[in-house]
Amino acid sequence: METDAQFESRKKDHVRIALMPEAQASVSNGLDEVRLIHEALPDISFNDVNITKKVFGHRFNSPIFVSSMTGGYDNSFYINSKLAEMCASKNWLLGTGSQRKELDSVEAQKEWKLITAQNPKLKLVSNIGITQLLQYRPKEILKIAENIKSLALFVHTNPLQEALQKEGTPNFKGALNALKVLAKASPIPVILKEVGCGFSTETLARLNNCGLYAVDVSGLGGTHWGRIEGLRNQSEDIRFKSAITFKNWGISTKQSLLNTKKVPITYKVWSSGGVRNGLDAAKLIAMGSEMVGMAKPILECVMNPNEKLDMLFDQLEYELKLSLFVTGCKSIDELFDNKKVVEWT
Ligand code: FNR
Repeated sequence: METDAQFESRKKDHVRIALMPEAQASVSNGLDEVRLIHEALPDISFNDVNITKKVFGHRFNSPIFVSSMTGGYDNSFYINSKLAEMCASKNWLLGTGSQRKELDSVEAQKEWKLITAQNPKLKLVSNIGITQLLQYRPKEILKIAENIKSLALFVHTNPLQEALQKEGTPNFKGALNALKVLAKASPIPVILKEVGCGFSTETLARLNNCGLYAVDVSGLGGTHWGRIEGLRNQSEDIRFKSAITFKNWGISTKQSLLNTKKVPITYKVWSSGGVRNGLDAAKLIAMGSEMVGMAKPILECVMNPNEKLDMLFDQLEYELKLSLFVTGCKSIDELFDNKKVVEWT
């Protein structure tokens, strides 16, 4: 069992290394092969373009959300407070980092409880690892979401990361069944997400009728967790060396999204993985994503005192609005899964 000090050191490593250029995949997420089609004569006014999006009964200012990152140690309170303040004021959805520590520690539950008390308008999606579903009862897992009134629960699946992490738990035996049991017991929507390695068509097909609300494909092309776990070791360690071998392991965000179209699916699709601007988000929405997540660029902005988080949110919203205007779409619902405005090679 990991000690508090080991936990804190692991979480600090993650944030520090995630901000290094070597933590990013060196292959594209595929969005450079996707183009939105220019409309030279949009029959709309820019001011009328509406990028709000309704999900879980709440209308958000944008379908872009802050993807799950961190929590449970000293500095995470600073990071999460900044994210929470901005998401509450801009009316964006925020994913918490993994709440695994809260399963065993009442003390750890205080962080998000305090943050939600300070930001009553904040809308959250909780987060837990799929391997925890094998160790804890659904009731215990759902309690961590209930405690902070989360609108939904992300379950992350991360086999490459668990295997390369020195403290990892790379046992996924029975995980799909545990996911089904949890989704059945859950009063809130459950969303399965990867952490940057994407989904194959076969896996997506196996997820049918599991009771999931959505799958966030979180594909290859952005933050790479094989790289991050590898870089936490000395250069002579086999994990360090193996992470180099697997440095671009995964299925790109674009390909993962295309895979969702190859088989009938019983859940919605969300996307993340290398999303770096509002145009990327627009492309993913046009290809059928209900919501689009971003992690690393937002963390980078929070950690840099010279950057302004509100300006990043404004820029992302503006670029998304611009994408709608120049494709002739008046709303996100019009852009959504719209074959007339998107093409790819
Ligand atoms: C993450 N990510 C993540 N995902 C998750 O489901 N639970 C978690 O606890 C974390 N922790 C975490 C920490 C940090 C520092 C980062 C940068 C990311 C993964 C994240 O939600 C997302 O799926 C990937 O990072 C891909 O998105 P980007 O970073 O390429 O935009």
